[in-house]
Amino acid sequence: MTSPSAKWEVRAELGVHYEIVESVDLLSVDNVALLGSVDRSDPSDTQLVLVDTTIDRLYGDRLRAYLEYHRVPYHLVSLPSAEEQKTIDLVLSVASAMNEAKAFRVRNPPIAIGGGVMLDIVGLAASLYRRGIPYIRVPTTLLGLVDVSVAAKTGVNFEGFRNRLGSYSPPLRTLIDRSFLATLPTRQLRNGMGEIFKMALIKDARLFGLLERYGAELIEGKFQDAAPPGGTAASGGPPLWTGANPADEVIGRAIQGMVEELQPNLWEKQLERSVDYGHSFSPLLEMRALPDLYHGEAVTLDCVFSAFLAAHRGLLRSDEVHRVVACARSLGLPVWHPLFCDADALGEALADTVRHRNGDQNLPVMAGIGSARFLNDVTPAELDAAAAAMAELAPVGAR
Ligand SMILES: NC(=O)c1ccc[n+]([C@@H]2O[C@H](COP(=O)([O-])OP(=O)(O)OC[C@H]3O[C@@H](n4cnc5c(N)ncnc54)[C@H](O)[C@@H]3O)[C@@H](O)[C@H]2O)c1
Ligand SMILES: [Zn+2]
Repeated sequence: MTSPSAKWEVRAELGVHYEIVESVDLLSVDNVALLGSVDRSDPSDTQLVLVDTTIDRLYGDRLRAYLEYHRVPYHLVSLPSAEEQKTIDLVLSVASAMNEAKAFRVRNPPIAIGGGVMLDIVGLAASLYRRGIPYIRVPTTLLGLVDVSVAAKTGVNFEGFRNRLGSYSPPLRTLIDRSFLATLPTRQLRNGMGEIFKMALIKDARLFGLLERYGAELIEGKFQDAAPPGGTAASGGPPLWTGANPADEVIGRAIQGMVEELQPNLWEKQLERSVDYGHSFSPLLEMRALPDLYHGEAVTLDCVFSAFLAAHRGLLRSDEVHRVVACARSLGLPVWHPLFCDADALGEALADTVRHRNGDQNLPVMAGIGSARFLNDVTPAELDAAAAAMAELAPVGAR
């Protein structure tokens, strides 16, 4: 028996290292990056590969041919990946697949290939299986490439709340290959642009300029062209990019911005996060609007709404607000939605976000294009004013 006052403490530190690595044409048999990312020290190990059903339909044959060419015994599991199906049940299906593949604790990590939904589901399953095993991520959507790729988070929706169950468990490595975007539907490309747009607004004025000049064209060319036709901007004038081409520079700057913002605050102990821009009102409203709004669309609406809040505080000039709205429109992203004009829904959304931010608003808003600051005293009257400004953007028939 110990005395009632006895006390023991355990302190430990968790070191984290993971990589985001570009690798062109991952499914080409000459490219060994996919298998080089997992420990295949025993070539008889069954390699678990989890893909979303669309990826299986579009790339399944190439993927199987790749694994067979490299003589890898594999267990390939294809799962649905709509946002409505991002549930704990699918996480358990992945855990069953891990059992079937006889997954090891460290050796031979599963490979997840797909959009953000698939990567979040597999990431959560990997964090629970044997209390946490490593995994590899291959994002195949634009949103996955620029946003999920850097994140340490996993999650599933629960009881109407977005990502209410989840974990912080980064993969060993994320492999980036923008050739997957060739098959991505236009609306999904625009969806990914929503997160790039967010990053540009709060952190990167140059990225914003690139979106204004080349954004629409990059979507049209599905990020595949080395350079826009003629090597110059669609709007004329000299090229604006300094990297290899606008597609690489836009994706590269978005990833770099995320790395810079996340690395010092990976576990989100600091609840003032500028990358939460566009994610203050949208989490609840996006879930209410399902399946009407995609994540990046909801983020864009929140960005525009929050730009009106900033303008109300004198942090953004009216010509800057105009550029924000015009850029979103040029990317084919929505700038108006009835839920973002509904003061009650907005108030409820902010209240839930305040609980998530532990009692403070910590509301990132733009302070000019390319920088941010935080507000903690936004009033219901300000929400009303921003909602009224948003309502002005409604298409004529919807007013
Ligand atoms: N972990 C994080 O920190 C983090 C960050 C951002 C977003 N997310 C999550 O990501 C999810 C959104 O991800 P998403 O936008 O990639 O959506 P998604 O995973 O639903 O994919 C969108 C659609 O595109 C299809 N698809 C995927 N790749 C394709 C390709 N190359 N060609 C053709 N079709 C393809 C998918 O099957 C799906 O139908 C949300 O659930 C969000 O919560 C997580
Ligand atoms: Zn997001």
